[in-house]
Amino acid sequence: MNRSAPTRRPRRIVAAAAAVLVVGLGAYWWSSRLPATYSMMDMGHLDTGGGPGPVAAMGHAGHGGGPASGIDIATLVPDPVRVADVHYDLVARAARVQLPGVPPFDGFTLNGSTPGPTLTATAGDLVEVRVTNADIAEGMTLHWHGVDVPNAMDGVAGVTQDAVAPGESFTYRFVVQAGTYWYHSHQVAHPQVSGGLFGALVVAPALGGADPGVLDAVALLHTYAGVRTIDGLPGTAVRGGAPGTTVRVRVINTDPNPAPVWVAGGPVRVVAVDGRDVHEPGEVSGRSVVVTAGGRADLEMVIPEAGVRVQVAGASLGFGPGGGTEAPAPRAALDLLHYGTPTALPFDPASAARTFEYRIGRRYGLLDGRLGAWWTINGGIFPDVPVYLVRAGEVVKFRITNDSGEVHPMHLHGHHMLVLSRDGEPATGSPWWVDSLNVEHGVTFEVALVADNPGVWMDHCHNLPHAAQGLMTHLMYEGYTTHFVIGGPHANHPE
Ligand code: C2O
Ligand code: CU
Repeated sequence: MNRSAPTRRPRRIVAAAAAVLVVGLGAYWWSSRLPATYSMMDMGHLDTGGGPGPVAAMGHAGHGGGPASGIDIATLVPDPVRVADVHYDLVARAARVQLPGVPPFDGFTLNGSTPGPTLTATAGDLVEVRVTNADIAEGMTLHWHGVDVPNAMDGVAGVTQDAVAPGESFTYRFVVQAGTYWYHSHQVAHPQVSGGLFGALVVAPALGGADPGVLDAVALLHTYAGVRTIDGLPGTAVRGGAPGTTVRVRVINTDPNPAPVWVAGGPVRVVAVDGRDVHEPGEVSGRSVVVTAGGRADLEMVIPEAGVRVQVAGASLGFGPGGGTEAPAPRAALDLLHYGTPTALPFDPASAARTFEYRIGRRYGLLDGRLGAWWTINGGIFPDVPVYLVRAGEVVKFRITNDSGEVHPMHLHGHHMLVLSRDGEPATGSPWWVDSLNVEHGVTFEVALVADNPGVWMDHCHNLPHAAQGLMTHLMYEGYTTHFVIGGPHANHPE
């Protein structure tokens, strides 16, 4: 009798299901939206790595602990009454940049140039750098890449400070350890770093200082407006040096991708990686050294009669008569897992109190309301990512795996990590310390560190567009909090 009912009912069901789907998708979309202002303390979910959770009184605002409490990381500074051993003044500007051989582009300078000045100091020095933002509208900061500074000096907008507005200044103070480092903005870092807001920091060893017999050179790799440069110069720069002289080239990769570096004309030793000496580095020939994004490698060689050439794709540095001659890139790369010889470690990795998983993947979903194939950490798209909780003094391990289809240069602020193994193969060479680790697709690294520098520390991909796409989280010390916020009146945007 009632003929319409059987058709009407499915229609109603379809309509209801569609409504549920729309509401559900809407809610999903809405929940992926990042608020205009939020605290990194509210981001993600706490991951204790199998160790003890936070004590109840220590609120982690977004993790059900009530309002954030704990020691404000802004208090984590070096001895405030100690007089600085070295002081620098830097002025940051937005500028139309003209570099030889590079099409003019709208970028940034420090004291009128990019790269900014190379800052030098001696191990143990208290370094003080006062930076003034002349006119960069979106603000800027300086992060000391690879220097294990006290947290309030880390230069991350919205996490350890507010972005420095035009006309304002900020003074960084930190004690340095010997090695090769660099500094760069960590406010809208992707355009500011690619646009030139960076420079080198070189710290000589305390005992005897820099060896006057060694020719010391910085090689800042950077691609400006599509042109590969070393220290702002494309092509080959000849630096001279008499045959027989030892030269130390501090290669710093400021680009987003790994840079194979090779030496034509003689053997080389990789004497330091990421600001830490390699123990008994042997001579290397016919291999390139892969310097990951953000990473450093110090190459040492004796200038032969015919000169020697340090090369990257598109640019090179020549030493000795004529600056040597070019050679094609070697096919094989040096494996730091087995380079140099072992020596005593300052801690026992087997005593780790926690083991964290940092699994990098990629999947379709919503990032801040935008549909795309986004990076994931342990399956979640930012901000649905783990925040790694540690207690001061602990030894902790990370298992970093990459199943995302691309290489990621993973950078942890404030700490050096010791590489234990790669794909289950133990490290057998010199202790291999990194602050920036090249994690290729399909590879698993196990690393360990000592949690000896309290605060809230970024742990992100240094291919900065990837970080801006959510490949970013934090190492968080129990009992510490930050009052700085992402967004807010200072428009803090660290990536
Ligand atoms: Cu080179 Cu988060 O930094
Ligand atoms: Cu990446």
